[in-house]
Amino acid sequence: MKFFLDTADVNQITELNEYGMIDGVTTNPSLIKKSGRNIIDVIKEISSIVEGPISAEVTSTDAKTMIEEGRKLLLIGNNIAVKVPLTWDGLKACKILSCEGYMVNVTLCFSPTQALLAAKAGATFVSPFVGRLDDININGSQLISDIRCVFDNYKFSTQILAASIRTVNHALESAMIGADVITAPPEVIRSMANHPLTTKGLDQFTSDWEATGQSIL
Ligand code: E4P
Repeated sequence: MKFFLDTADVNQITELNEYGMIDGVTTNPSLIKKSGRNIIDVIKEISSIVEGPISAEVTSTDAKTMIEEGRKLLLIGNNIAVKVPLTWDGLKACKILSCEGYMVNVTLCFSPTQALLAAKAGATFVSPFVGRLDDININGSQLISDIRCVFDNYKFSTQILAASIRTVNHALESAMIGADVITAPPEVIRSMANHPLTTKGLDQFTSDWEATGQSIL
């Protein structure tokens, strides 16, 4: 399973990348806004830090302009995945860019039939939003499960990129279902290492060790 970081915060990306577990990065217009930086500058910096796919999202709504924006974003680095919304225009842009050999991430996916269309359009990734479905009391993990079933039935190679991952449980459920990728904010990835018994056990070991008066070094 691949881990992508869902952020445009270069400091967080640099820090977590040092653990060697970050396989890519996803951004969106809201995350670019949060970074306070120019999209080209920040995507360029991110693409030089992380080797894997860096999703950079188009902002227009018609296919022609999406393709033009996508082409400009693709010039930033050879690991850019153009992110397009799951609309008919987005699917058209996906088909054209993916046929030219570029990586495309189709985002804002909320149903298995939408995901099926993204796969048919040749998407490299489709991004079902787990957390935003949970926000409206619809089971987001069920969507991942349904898409997995459909893609496996027909051996689609489009990767399921579980997005809008807000909790460790979202990450776990996506992993158990067989999502190919999760993209999560840095704080969620960091929380995956936490367990109260790990903390308690380490406190006990540390105090017992100090009581021995020994030192390994
Ligand atoms: C996906 O690529 C999106 O950037 C992201 O996961 C959305 O997450 P949110 O619903 O927490 O904003």
